[in-house]
Amino acid sequence: MQYMGSKNRIAKHILPIMLAERKPDQWWVEPFVGGANMIDKVAGNRMGNDSHEFLIALLVALRDGYIPPTDISKELYYAVKSKPQEYPKELVGFVGFLCSFGGKWWGGYAFNKKGDNYAERGSRCLVKQAKNLDGIVFKSGSYLELEIPENSLIYCDPPYANTCKYKDDFNHDIFWNWCRTQTKSGHTVFISEYSAPNDFVCVKEIQHKTILDKNSQYPRIEKLFRYKV
Ligand SMILES: C[S@@+](CC[C@H](N)C(=O)[O-])C[C@H]1O[C@@H](n2cnc3c(N)ncnc32)[C@H](O)[C@@H]1O
Repeated sequence: MQYMGSKNRIAKHILPIMLAERKPDQWWVEPFVGGANMIDKVAGNRMGNDSHEFLIALLVALRDGYIPPTDISKELYYAVKSKPQEYPKELVGFVGFLCSFGGKWWGGYAFNKKGDNYAERGSRCLVKQAKNLDGIVFKSGSYLELEIPENSLIYCDPPYANTCKYKDDFNHDIFWNWCRTQTKSGHTVFISEYSAPNDFVCVKEIQHKTILDKNSQYPRIEKLFRYKV
């Protein structure tokens, strides 16, 4: 799914490192699942959580066979945006993300001079992705409240510090402490970030051009970290 901070392009570089550590039947847990662009490439027991309730509603519906509409007018886009409570949550998720510029939540009705149909393209991509969501347990809420099966492999892809402005402010100190606690309690924890506190070790670096919006382009080194126990 097109999504801000998607790991689709770097999955091939970091997934093998994490999967090499995964034991048979071990749960793969993503507390910040976003567009499910990493978890959709993993097999076996999987749990994906995100604080964005409309995103999770869309992922659950897709997993269960929902086919999103292939035509969303500008009028409908703004009608859904102004009264989301009057529409099914999965439709709100679809319109708010997939029919917006850059896949940014209510980032403005997407259109271009060529007359591309963004809804049709989004729907097609999601139906394709849905085949890889079968069996995933999805949860909606803060990562801090997520109940994680014992000895899981946890892949964290939180909102990056000082880059994207997501809906809520994100406390990175609390997050790094949470990673320490999870590791000490027996989980294997990996984190995608640009930088980390000194007691975390970088296990992989990837040069990656991140595009946040049309005005800001930063070539940055994306890193995968683990806690040094
Ligand atoms: C960088 S994105 C994840 C992208 C995902 N890995 C992908 O490839 O599509 C970070 C996600 O964290 C979610 N998020 C932000 N704060 C959160 C919180 N406190 N608890 C759970 N999820 C949160 C955002 O809604 C967003 O979907």
